[in-house]
Amino acid sequence: MHGHDNAAWLGRGGPDQAQSASFRRRATANGPPGSPEPRSSFSLVLADIFDDNRWLMRPSERAAIKGILAELVPELAIEIGTAAGGSLRRIAAQSQHVHAFDMVAPAPELALLPNVTFHIGDSHELLPRVLGELSKQGVNVDFVLVDGDHSAKGVRRDTEDLLSSPAVARTLILLHDTANPDVRAGLNAINCAEWPKLTWVDLDWLPGYVSREDSTLGQAWAGLGLMVADAKAGPLAGPAQIAAYAYPITELLGGSLAARRERDHDRRELQMLRTRVEELEQLQARMVSSKSWRLTGPLRALKGASGK
Ligand SMILES: C[S@@+](CC[C@H](N)C(=O)[O-])C[C@H]1O[C@@H](n2cnc3c(N)ncnc32)[C@H](O)[C@@H]1O
Repeated sequence: MHGHDNAAWLGRGGPDQAQSASFRRRATANGPPGSPEPRSSFSLVLADIFDDNRWLMRPSERAAIKGILAELVPELAIEIGTAAGGSLRRIAAQSQHVHAFDMVAPAPELALLPNVTFHIGDSHELLPRVLGELSKQGVNVDFVLVDGDHSAKGVRRDTEDLLSSPAVARTLILLHDTANPDVRAGLNAINCAEWPKLTWVDLDWLPGYVSREDSTLGQAWAGLGLMVADAKAGPLAGPAQIAAYAYPITELLGGSLAARRERDHDRRELQMLRTRVEELEQLQARMVSSKSWRLTGPLRALKGASGK
């Protein structure tokens, strides 16, 4: 996740953290004192969405992915970009088998997932190979999450490799970080008309956001895009169009975003300067009231009178 690193949704004190804390309070508030904490399915489901910081996604996106998986119950799924396994755990829980791709080897407890085949290395090399194998076997990939290489070239390549494969015939593809300009540029460059099996493309299926955090101030991240391939149905209404019904919000905001970012930046600078002035005033007050300052008062007065 370029630009938005782990701090983005792991450590960042954004809505994720605040909601998580408030949910924990509610989840622990319903048993008599001293009894073990009751874990209703209500609290378990919400904890799964709000309390697991291994996801590198917002709670709304987690909920959307869990909802899609619950409806689809894929036989075969692919995930590109595993990281700490937040999304992979949920995909594996609902799918018979998952092929997971990441440059980095999975954490030991993640590697124990019995129905996941891990492919460690560059997805641009490994994915076409695996898709080739699956096509040879005549199997269909039911679900894909694309959340690996976030460069324009990289995300385009992963997506086009998927779309070009006969194994992606009746497939629901989710693409993360569609609000990010690099990811968006890569996806916008895909000519959907080349794949008549595409029946639905919506890059703002779940819109992203523009960060107010210091480390990512003004950057657009998150957002879930959706592509549906259905080789049996054929295109529903001509070749699928990317974001045909709506203007992408983060692109629209362009100029006003830049101005806002500057205002936010100025406000923070001003706040820092005010704090510094307060600190210096306190220091000065302490100095002036100190014994040594009072003792050296006559010396300073003499110096002033002699003009030196
Ligand atoms: C945003 S994280 C994935 C987060 C995960 N889907 C989740 O929400 O829990 C992106 C991951 O993609 C991996 N990645 C980046 N470029 C890649 C590439 N070319 N091939 C394979 N993995 C890649 C990174 O190592 C990183 O772990």
